[in-house]
Amino acid sequence: MAGGGWRFRPGQPEFDTEQSLRRVVEAVRALDPAPDFAVLGGDLASPDLLDRSVVLASAEYEPSYRLLKGILAGLPCPIHVLLGNHDDRPAFNRVLLDDALAPGAPHCFSFDHGGYHFVGLDSHEPGQAQGFLDRGQLEWLREDLRQHRDQPAIAFVHHHPWSLGLEWIDGMRLRNGDELVAALREHGRVRWLICGHVHLDQAIQREGLTMLTTPSTCLQLSAVSQTARVLPGPPAFRIVDVSGDQLSTRVVRLHAADPRDV
Ligand SMILES: [Fe+2]
Repeated sequence: MAGGGWRFRPGQPEFDTEQSLRRVVEAVRALDPAPDFAVLGGDLASPDLLDRSVVLASAEYEPSYRLLKGILAGLPCPIHVLLGNHDDRPAFNRVLLDDALAPGAPHCFSFDHGGYHFVGLDSHEPGQAQGFLDRGQLEWLREDLRQHRDQPAIAFVHHHPWSLGLEWIDGMRLRNGDELVAALREHGRVRWLICGHVHLDQAIQREGLTMLTTPSTCLQLSAVSQTARVLPGPPAFRIVDVSGDQLSTRVVRLHAADPRDV
C-alpha cells in the first residue's frame, strides 16, 4: 500500500508492507536457479486497509499498484497476477494489465510451460471478503481445460475452496468452491490448486487433487486461532518445482535479513 505503514488494530506496531515485499523480491533474485515465472496470488494492493471507515475510489488504488509495479520490476522473471478480495478491478486493470480487460471483466488466463498447463482464475467479488467464480469464468475454465486434456495442469486462485479448519478464515472461502473443484476434476490431470488469501501454509488432498495455501509476503495469520489473529511476519513465498511427473514445493520464510540465511 502506498501511503505509509499499516496497523492491523489501533495500538499494534506499524507494519511496512513495501519494505516487506522488497525483502521477498531480493530473496527471489537470490534463487539459484532463477524461477521461470512468478505468480502473485492476489490482494496485491490494499490501501483500503489504511482507514477502514473510508471507501476508496478506484483512482485512489492506482498509486499502490504503481508502487507495486515498480518493486516487481526487480524480479528476475515474468510475472502473472491474480486478483484478491482487497484488489480494485478497474485500477488493477489500468496499472498492472495496461487496460487489457473490458470494464468489469474477470482476469482469468492460461499458458503452457515445460509440458504443463497453468491456469489463473479471478475470484474477486467487489465489496466481499469471500470469493466467487461467475458462470462465464467457469465455462471458460472448462473449455480451456478441455483443450489441454493431454497435459498435466496446475491452477491458481486467490480464495481457498476447501475448509482449513479455522472458523474465521473459512468464513471467507470461495463461495462456489465445489463448482471449481468439479470443473478441475473434469480435466482429470489437474495436480495442484494453489491459493493465497489465508496467509498460511497448508496442504489438503482429496482424491488426487491437492490444494496448497501460501503465506503472505507481509503479515501472517495464526495457524491455530479460531478468531482473527495477525502475526508480524516473517514474509514468505512458495517455490514450486515441476519436473515431469514429479512436483515438489517448499515455503521460504525470511527469518533473517540476509536472503542467503533462510
Ligand atoms: Fe484475500
